[in-house]
Amino acid sequence: MTIQKHTMTHLPLGDHKTAPWYGKDILSVKQFDRLDLEYIFGVAHEMHDMVDHIGTFDLLKGKILANLFYEPSTRTSSSFTAAMERLGGSVIPINEVKYSSVAKGESLPDTVRTLECYADVIVLRHPEVGSAAIAAKAARKPVINAGDGIGEHPTQALLDAFTIREELGHIDGLTVTLLGDLKHGRTVHSLARLLSLYKVKLNYVSPDILRMPAELMDELSQKGVEQTEYTTLDACLPETDVLYVTRVQKERFADEAAYESVKGAYVINAEVMKAAKQRMIVMHPLPRVGEIDPAFDEDPRAAYFRQMEYGLYVRMALLAMVLGKA
Ligand code: CP
Repeated sequence: MTIQKHTMTHLPLGDHKTAPWYGKDILSVKQFDRLDLEYIFGVAHEMHDMVDHIGTFDLLKGKILANLFYEPSTRTSSSFTAAMERLGGSVIPINEVKYSSVAKGESLPDTVRTLECYADVIVLRHPEVGSAAIAAKAARKPVINAGDGIGEHPTQALLDAFTIREELGHIDGLTVTLLGDLKHGRTVHSLARLLSLYKVKLNYVSPDILRMPAELMDELSQKGVEQTEYTTLDACLPETDVLYVTRVQKERFADEAAYESVKGAYVINAEVMKAAKQRMIVMHPLPRVGEIDPAFDEDPRAAYFRQMEYGLYVRMALLAMVLGKA
């Protein structure tokens, strides 16, 4: 299945310095309400149309993005770069901080204050929870959190929600099953929070040592979200509309033996998926390390490569918004 083309909605793309997101940081999904999401999805939709029709355009001509990554990334880093370049802007890529002055001991606030001398917006991935907030406090320019340790990955959650809406037409009323490393997975933390804005049922499937953090479950319970925990997928797969698979995050384990005990806990393949609905989707933030059989990729329900493409449009929307052009 390919991503469908859509008709132009003609959202206002132009110079809107009074736009609500102009100059704002994007640090957590807690910043957003449903109206914000509708707005972001509308702009992302428009970006999709613009890319389909004209490829690259000059909305952010002359603007510069500093892409500052202290942790490895393929999708987030390259999609922010592609987003900025599709919008006519340019990028300072710092994907290997060991070749920057970070290697000489420069602090995060000083690094950010340096980059904002040269750039209009900073995208930051960092291994420590709260690092994006520290960077945002130091910076005068907008900071976008591209993942802070096991904390949050808000732009991933936005693209995930956009994917669900584009693929299934709506979010309210869906049963979403989050599978894998729910303890360390910042994508599932952000997505669960974001989905709590909708009327969804959440299932959590994980080994006992990788359960969804209790504080997050309490937070969502207080919002009235129905949540159920499982250690196996079979009981909840048949009712699932969105199966969100995550890898077990080896780099977050202090104990190698603990990682080995859970690393192959779940594998999604054609046989397993016989129990699932025909109209549902399988998502994954990627990279995958064995939890989805590549032979399943040709199944129309496998949405994870389309999900990556949706990420480009959402990140184009976010850059345009914080730079006052949407
Ligand atoms: N989904 C995601 O964050 O992928 P990368 O680590 O490749 O950026």
